[in-house]
Amino acid sequence: HVEDDLELDQTLFTEEQIVSRLKEMAADIERDYEGKDILLVGVLKGAVMVMADLARSLDRHVEMDWMAVSSYGSGTKSSGVVRILKDLDTDLQGRHVLIVEDIIDTGLTLSWLITNLRSRGPASVEIATLLRKPEAQQMEVEVKYVGFDIPNAFVVGYGLDYNEQYRNLRCIGTLSPHVYS
Ligand code: PRP
Ligand code: MN
Ligand code: MG
Repeated sequence: HVEDDLELDQTLFTEEQIVSRLKEMAADIERDYEGKDILLVGVLKGAVMVMADLARSLDRHVEMDWMAVSSYGSGTKSSGVVRILKDLDTDLQGRHVLIVEDIIDTGLTLSWLITNLRSRGPASVEIATLLRKPEAQQMEVEVKYVGFDIPNAFVVGYGLDYNEQYRNLRCIGTLSPHVYS
């Protein structure tokens, strides 16, 4: 088990807790979008696990598409300048778009993304994120579905990485300081 790898300082959420919260979010989404077709837009790569479990928790048909974005340059995340590495295949005209994210940290990625997607003529654009760090947020982003608010700590697992590692952990935990210090 990679979970037994003790580079995790503390488990914040077990697989069971994550999946059960996503089921609750899915129930809210089903209720809110009754009679409307949903296009789920996952943000690569972190949102892969959330997308897989959230989409399968929805007791209805949905479409899924993906975008890959990156902060412009490295270490300039706070600039809020984002570039598209992989765009959607889907025309958003008239679509109900639900962006699926693993985490909102500063909020810069989503704040840019929501403006970008709204400019493409969709019927609606909303956000579903598993995690949010209220203390780290620099940009006000209106989020319709939030799994858990968490403290401002470095978290990995369930899609979330540190240097591309730990994405395949089933749980979400904080990384031991010795790993990154
Ligand atoms: C992470 C995370 C969110 C974003 C949140 O992605 O998955 O997409 O950062 O940060 P923000 O709110 O400060 O903008 P990252 O850019 O690390 O890419 P990844 O999903 O491929 O890991
Ligand atoms: Mn991401
Ligand atoms: Mg990352």
